[in-house]
Amino acid sequence: MSLPPAPYPYSRPRRLRASPWRRRLVAETTLSPADLIWPLIVHDGDEAREPVPSMPGVERLSVRACAEAAREAVAMGLPAVALFPHVSPRVKDAQGSGATDPSGLIPDCIKAIKDAAPDLGVMCDVALDCYTDHGHDGLLREGVILNDETVARLCEQALVQAEAGADIIAPSDMMDGRVGAIRDALESEGHRDVMILSYAAKYASCFYGPYRDAVGSARALSGDKKTYQMDPANSDEALREVALDIGEGADAVMVKPGLAYLDIIQRVAERFEVPVFAYQVSGEYAMLKAAAANGWLDEDRAVIETLMAFRRAGCAGIVSYFAPRACRLLGA
Ligand code: PBG
Repeated sequence: MSLPPAPYPYSRPRRLRASPWRRRLVAETTLSPADLIWPLIVHDGDEAREPVPSMPGVERLSVRACAEAAREAVAMGLPAVALFPHVSPRVKDAQGSGATDPSGLIPDCIKAIKDAAPDLGVMCDVALDCYTDHGHDGLLREGVILNDETVARLCEQALVQAEAGADIIAPSDMMDGRVGAIRDALESEGHRDVMILSYAAKYASCFYGPYRDAVGSARALSGDKKTYQMDPANSDEALREVALDIGEGADAVMVKPGLAYLDIIQRVAERFEVPVFAYQVSGEYAMLKAAAANGWLDEDRAVIETLMAFRRAGCAGIVSYFAPRACRLLGA
């Protein structure tokens, strides 16, 4: 951008837009199924598939149904899926014991997916919120989320997932020091190739609302998550969080939510040489779905436009509930 463009009519920017082939030829950004990770909500209930009311088109899947989804993911060209558990209330307790049960829902799903689709990447959320009766990501004592005690539990959870065959460990809890501790735990147990994709800049956001319904943590949650998730007012702090996580051994980092934080994605992608991912979260999905259902937005175009925006901002990839729909639209 050193020279200013020639003045009109020597410059006519519309020349580059005058036909589809020209637009294709000069497109600066690409979007393909290889850029997408499909989040799957799995459950321990009896139904093979159970609709999530707050997320039309998303279903809670049984172990067997999630293996089917994994095969579909491969057929669509998706590189990976991400697993999130909805467990019945009787599994939940104050310590989130279910998170470290080697014969729990998530290990079962990982194994079923690896049997059905061995070449599909499996990403797992590391956090206790889906398993605690208070709905927080960490251990709670007298209203305080305990950092170091939680980190020890997260290391156990990550090891259970890795031992079941998980490829990507994705800590979404926002405790301090958890990436380094999980990396040490993985190394000491010989899990050298397990990736850590840390939710490095995760904000205390209203946009997780529909997800908390989907995994059944909304009713449980007491208070908010502002003592561990980031303040939406902050941007420099996101860079410090990312630098810390890379220093502790993260292979890739995530910014979450997505669309309201494109500035953060862009700053992180410009500053650091690791792959940056974004999570187009449940509230973003629900907003577009609701507008489309009312006939106020063209859903297909909104899906491609928002996913392209993440790529333009510098994302290597996007976690999105729209992943299968996007694959269809991209002609895969
Ligand atoms: C928590 C977790 C959350 C999501 C993924 N992991 C929500 C939260 O922090 O309360 C949100 C995903 C979404 O909204 O789609 N460990």
